[in-house]
Amino acid sequence: MLTIHDKTFVPFIAARDIQQRVAELATQINRDYHDKQPLMVVVLKGAVLFAADLFKQLTMPCEITFLRVSSYQKTASTGHVRQLLGLSEPITDRDVIVVEDIVDTGLTLGDVCDQLRESRPASLTVATLLFKPEALQRQLQLDYVGFEIENRFVVGYGLDYDGLGRNTKDIFVLSE
Ligand code: IMP
Repeated sequence: MLTIHDKTFVPFIAARDIQQRVAELATQINRDYHDKQPLMVVVLKGAVLFAADLFKQLTMPCEITFLRVSSYQKTASTGHVRQLLGLSEPITDRDVIVVEDIVDTGLTLGDVCDQLRESRPASLTVATLLFKPEALQRQLQLDYVGFEIENRFVVGYGLDYDGLGRNTKDIFVLSE
């Protein structure tokens, strides 16, 4: 059991199962990119632990970089945009793998992919550790998915509740 602030979380996905699944995803990526030099673009902060474990198991020459997504900024024309901050590498003509911790509504990842595509990468795929299909609000192509989960709030292995709970090897779910 894990207590963060006023909430109680119970075990949900064990570290062993996470590591096993990450190894399977790495095998797929190694196969798909064996003749390429991909650039992993990691969406901070939640995806850091997943990305590190995945990256260690890639066998082709590959690079890693990071970006942060600002919360929504209001604009007069489009209503809302999320800004991508901190991306230091050019991605034009690169084979980009976006690495995310969780796809919930899909709005964050959708914005990230739309904006990255404006820089004309050679290809763009998405690896997400977790996916909540029931919460999805926009169509997205998810190429590498660790676990499909029900629409419940989870923490651990990078995912937080109000800043805390990222530093565990297992994933926990909010107790009902
Ligand atoms: P989306 O735009 O709704 O897909 O939200 C994605 C972001 O919301 C993730 O990158 C997480 O930071 C956060 N998020 C969504 N669901 C959870 C959860 O169950 N636990 C922790 N963070 C979550």
